[in-house]
Amino acid sequence: MAYTIVIFGASGDLTSRKLIPALYSLFKKDKLDQLVRIVGVSRSPFGHDEYRLALRETTKKFAGKLFDEASWDAFSENIYYQPGDIKQSADFDALAGFLSEIEEGQPAGRVYYLSTMPQLYEEAIVQLGGAGLADDSDGFRRVIIEKPFGTDLATAQALNESIHKVFREDQIYRIDHYLGKETVQNIFALRFANSIFEPLWNRNYVDHVQITVAEEVVIGRRAGYYDSAGILRDMFQNHILQLMMITAMEPPARYDAALVRDEKVKVLHSVRKMTGADFASNTVRGQYHGYLQEEGVPPGSQTETYAALKLYCDNWRWKGVPFYLRSGKAMSCRTTQIVIQFRQVPHILFGEKTRTPVGNRLVIQVQPAEGIQLHFEAKVPESEMKTRTSTLDFDFNETSGGTMPDAYQRLLLDAILGDASLFARSDEVELAWGIIDPILAAWRSPAAPQLFPYEPGFWGPSEANGWMGDQKREWFDVCPVLTKS
Ligand SMILES: NC(=O)c1ccc[n+]([C@@H]2O[C@H](COP(=O)([O-])OP(=O)(O)OC[C@H]3O[C@@H](n4cnc5c(N)ncnc54)[C@H](OP(=O)(O)O)[C@@H]3O)[C@@H](O)[C@H]2O)c1
Repeated sequence: MAYTIVIFGASGDLTSRKLIPALYSLFKKDKLDQLVRIVGVSRSPFGHDEYRLALRETTKKFAGKLFDEASWDAFSENIYYQPGDIKQSADFDALAGFLSEIEEGQPAGRVYYLSTMPQLYEEAIVQLGGAGLADDSDGFRRVIIEKPFGTDLATAQALNESIHKVFREDQIYRIDHYLGKETVQNIFALRFANSIFEPLWNRNYVDHVQITVAEEVVIGRRAGYYDSAGILRDMFQNHILQLMMITAMEPPARYDAALVRDEKVKVLHSVRKMTGADFASNTVRGQYHGYLQEEGVPPGSQTETYAALKLYCDNWRWKGVPFYLRSGKAMSCRTTQIVIQFRQVPHILFGEKTRTPVGNRLVIQVQPAEGIQLHFEAKVPESEMKTRTSTLDFDFNETSGGTMPDAYQRLLLDAILGDASLFARSDEVELAWGIIDPILAAWRSPAAPQLFPYEPGFWGPSEANGWMGDQKREWFDVCPVLTKS
């Protein structure tokens, strides 16, 4: 069966920077075994050829070395543009007519990609339903929804409710592009395709886990969105909790969307709810110096650009093991990493006079370079019996011949093939909001913990280091342990 991918937000940044280059790369690598038509929809006036030409330039730029004219010409023959306003039902009737025309009345599967403003998601879904475009009697109908999915639990629930009136849950693909990254999927392989890590992956051997998403950039001109969202909504509810779920989940019986997501959801169920004094003792809030001077930021804004949380999973595997989650803008570098900090050996035989070994660490680096680094103690040559930390590196890029696919390639292909393992389910999204909402409420209350200022270019407020120090732990503040090969 042929497929049609309808992209709402056709003239937008995500479409030109990620979606079309990803689809082109899949085409070029022969991963699309059937005819795939792409229909871009937005209000801007383009003709088909004009749209193809605009995408040719951006794809050339973003697909890099992979781009060549001949394959682009073949690929772009099946790109179309249909002007339309999500707010106009007549435009959806016109879209329905256009789709039937290009599909020539033949059965075709369809993926609707909502790459437009979040305020339009609900309306787009209602309109798709109204125009009969959700009817899957002659081919599958799936909808991919970009982040953010709601701005709190109530809005996420309302959005789920509206979508479920038009699409069944198995037709809905809520995207979190972190899950499309090879290294994130490699966590499944690392944990469940090896026998040497899993026996150690629990409270008996792990002291704590750190998940860091650090960004070097400041908010720039995004104050309109950022000041009302803040870092908890922007990073924690989605990406960081996703990384935590995959790190903490139990092995599923089979690698299957329902079972994988069941196990992820169990992690969220086990997260201990913060109450009372926890909001001050288990969180750190920060704002970089200069945030209040960014264009569009309201005077005196208390929005966090840095946050650190300590969460516990109250279950057999993780009871008592803290998960430290942190993210910040204006940090010292861009890196996303998961650090599994193993316990110290029970009795230190070597090197106790000069230094205390920190214990083994497994660093899973999600970006910029993707890979894994294992830290272990080894003897210093020609010393009596001193040890130092040595590393074993696995660089994903090197082993893949220097062509790591962009996350959107994997996710688009999975959505076309109907594999929802790497997409968020409705209960997952709502449970994640259920963890973040109370923290947001506490931080917005008169008893909110102090908002600590920090200098751009470092690792957030010094108070966050003191907070870790008070717990006899320290942040793993290392800019990418692996650099792009
Ligand atoms: N850009 C990224 O890297 C990125 C990353 C992660 C998630 N996202 C999410 O992806 C979505 C799209 O982001 P973006 O950066 O591509 O946004 P964008 O550049 O602002 O594009 C928005 C698109 O929506 C279209 N649009 C706006 N109003 C419309 C209407 N009434 N009817 C039909 N189309 C309409 C715009 O086209 P016209 O003005 O021509 O109608 C444009 O094509 C957002 O939800 C964002 O949160 C983006």
